[in-house]
Amino acid sequence: MRIEVIVNNRKIEMDVENNEFLVDTLRRYGFNSVKRGCDTGNCGLCTVWVDEKPTLSCATLAVRAAGRHITTIEALQTEAKEVAEFLVAEGADQCGFCSPGFLMTVLAMKKELQNPTDEEIKHYLAGNLCRCTGYVGQLRAIKKYLGVA
Ligand code: FES
Ligand code: FES
Repeated sequence: MRIEVIVNNRKIEMDVENNEFLVDTLRRYGFNSVKRGCDTGNCGLCTVWVDEKPTLSCATLAVRAAGRHITTIEALQTEAKEVAEFLVAEGADQCGFCSPGFLMTVLAMKKELQNPTDEEIKHYLAGNLCRCTGYVGQLRAIKKYLGVA
């Protein structure tokens, strides 16, 4: 099936299989920042935005992206770098495996939540797992990034 999608503000026609997941389609079309981790909708690594909302691309059929706006981290390099600097300053960056999905979620949270509490931040980020750092350093960094520390 052929679908039309807007990826990072550019209209693209994509050929997709009926049972293909969005993570595979995006990678096939060169958006290699989109990574696969657990492949079961649990780790958050494959997060992209669909119409500005963080969405697990390993659990979203590509056909459901037809006519939607998809955003990957390729389009948010400056913003992602800024968050990464806060993570580095708090010692919350290690292998970086979780970073692509984590950063997409943090950037969505910044747009969506005004002055969030610790609990609201933790709730928003609960779907993004990190096997290296623990979450205390991440929370410190994100609070500073959001200006709520
Ligand atoms: S790869 Fe999609 S949630 Fe883990
Ligand atoms: S920094 Fe290694 S998994 Fe998060």
